[in-house]
Amino acid sequence: MIVLGLESSCDETAAALVELDADGSGRILASKVYTQKEHLDYGGVVPEIAARAHLEKMPAMVRGCLKEANLGWPRIDAVAATTGPGLLGGVLVGTMYGKSLALALDKPFMPVNHLEGHALTACLTNGVDFPFLLLLVSGGHCQFLLVEGLGVYTTLGGTIDDAVGEAFDKVAKLMGFNYPGGPKIQRLAENGNPKAFNLPLPLRHEGLDFSFSGLKTAVRTQLEKAGPLTDQLMADMAASFQETVARLLEIKTERALAQTHVKTFVLAGGVAANTLLRGRLEGLCHKKGVTFCAPPVNLCTDNAVMIAYAGARRLLAGEKPDLASNARARWPLEELKKK
Ligand code: KG4
Ligand code: ZN
Repeated sequence: MIVLGLESSCDETAAALVELDADGSGRILASKVYTQKEHLDYGGVVPEIAARAHLEKMPAMVRGCLKEANLGWPRIDAVAATTGPGLLGGVLVGTMYGKSLALALDKPFMPVNHLEGHALTACLTNGVDFPFLLLLVSGGHCQFLLVEGLGVYTTLGGTIDDAVGEAFDKVAKLMGFNYPGGPKIQRLAENGNPKAFNLPLPLRHEGLDFSFSGLKTAVRTQLEKAGPLTDQLMADMAASFQETVARLLEIKTERALAQTHVKTFVLAGGVAANTLLRGRLEGLCHKKGVTFCAPPVNLCTDNAVMIAYAGARRLLAGEKPDLASNARARWPLEELKKK
């Protein structure tokens, strides 16, 4: 079965073609991602600009995929699109575009939860099997999930304020850098001393919940005190901040592993692209005898491969296509149907 996936929930306009076998394994036939530059002057993603850019770029992404895979329209067996959660205008564009294509091609339309896409990516790229512990870290989400099957997700803990990617973005903004801040912080940190600033480890929250707003405030006040923003100062702060986040996620992951007793750990979402974090959590898993998996970096950030794959897995599991499904800004994983 060949599924066309569409993703438009934030500032990536993406399409992909994924082929799924009857045993649930799959192959990426094509993947196109346009990261919107339309927001550069605004210091963050502007929802209406994002929606308009999705509308403008999506057709080219889809055609690019057909060309890359050297396939014609009739070879598409189903269309899957992110129908939430995300910025509603963008989600509506992908949903309506996907439904229209499915209608025109007379093929099933499968609504996909963006978070389920992130959650299942490692099943495609690393052949991971259920159950596994997932740490989903992105610009909009920061949560531990126990994944026991398709649609069987239990949230074990999450952020009570900012998502971790958001904290990276806000710290980068304090130093004058545009969205997305994560890659810039990582690059700056390469020349910095992670011990230069003594930032508080936000461990006030028991269990597996997170809070990043205090850390962000500490970065701001310490930067203000330190004087003019020199390159070295920024590098030192980036390294200290990145180190604190990695240490926090390491401590929480150790707790989550002890609590769940699973033998596989998956790191996913945009922040999983962070090299320091990947290394730390891989080291921890190694120490605990747990298999560590993280999708390749380009499939950790938003993409449509994960949407095509999640849609394909649901179709394969016998879920009915749903042309009447609505776009949703909020859609917790727990509300998904078990398969
Ligand atoms: O999953 P994603 O592409 O979009 C959302 O669903 O939010 O994640 C984007 C987030 C941004 O906050 C970005 O700053 C962060 O992932 N990010 C990183 C890195 N690359 C992207 N954070 C830390 N280190 C990175 N290398
Ligand atoms: Zn995402």
